[in-house]
Amino acid sequence: MVNFLSSVMKKLIILTGAGVSAESGIITFREMGGLWDKYSIEEVASPQAWKKNPQLVLDFYNTRRKQLLDSQPNAAHRALVDLERKYEVHIVTQNVDDLHERAGSTKVLHLHGELMKVRSEKNEKLISTLNGWELKLGDKAEDGEQLRPHIVWFGEAVPMINNAAKLVKSADIMIIIGTSLSVYPAAGLLFEASKSCLKYYIDPIAETQFLPGIELISKKATEGVPHLVEQLLK
Ligand code: APR
Repeated sequence: MVNFLSSVMKKLIILTGAGVSAESGIITFREMGGLWDKYSIEEVASPQAWKKNPQLVLDFYNTRRKQLLDSQPNAAHRALVDLERKYEVHIVTQNVDDLHERAGSTKVLHLHGELMKVRSEKNEKLISTLNGWELKLGDKAEDGEQLRPHIVWFGEAVPMINNAAKLVKSADIMIIIGTSLSVYPAAGLLFEASKSCLKYYIDPIAETQFLPGIELISKKATEGVPHLVEQLLK
């Protein structure tokens, strides 16, 4: 029955960025006072940074993990779960937080990794979930190597991008939420959607972007997402 249902349910792909978690208290990257105002990417989010000063990198992600453990999903995350009643919903997120999962979304693809996961610095397949916020120098994977954040750093490959592109290509509806669309290849997913795919972009800056064929909704996520979900569930 489930297979039959998923074959007749319309496919809805949701591309989210930091803005969908902003109202959960998680800082975005490129707005005034954002993360990249406080830290330089080169010092905390690249393989070179990890080589040069692993403690600084660990501190950066430990701070973000601590913040995440104190955060809750918001009304936008929850509204997206409701869409699963009527659509085959896939969330493709640039975010490394687990708020979509904690809200109840069942199919979440993380393009840039996951904050609560760590992996051997020598074998990217040896991934485990932290059960607290702290990762320390000396914490080892099962292969005896130092554990590193399971995050896609600048300059590293985005292993899930092809899976994401396949999902977008087959989408009947695409909703883009809370992303400045400034980081590729994630931002390029927008152009993988078919001509017949209905596209929406929810972000306070939506109307400043030139995105032909996309309905622009210049609202915060907790306002714009529940409203659009209500329309789509009618
Ligand atoms: N509701 C919706 N959108 C919001 C809200 C809100 N309450 N507050 C801010 N935004 C929007 C901003 O207008 C902006 O367009 O969220 C977007 C945040 O943009 P960025 O900070 O650039 O974050 P993002 O697009 O997710 O960055 C992409 O860059 O640094 C890397 O790996 C990191 O995944 C990240 C990627």
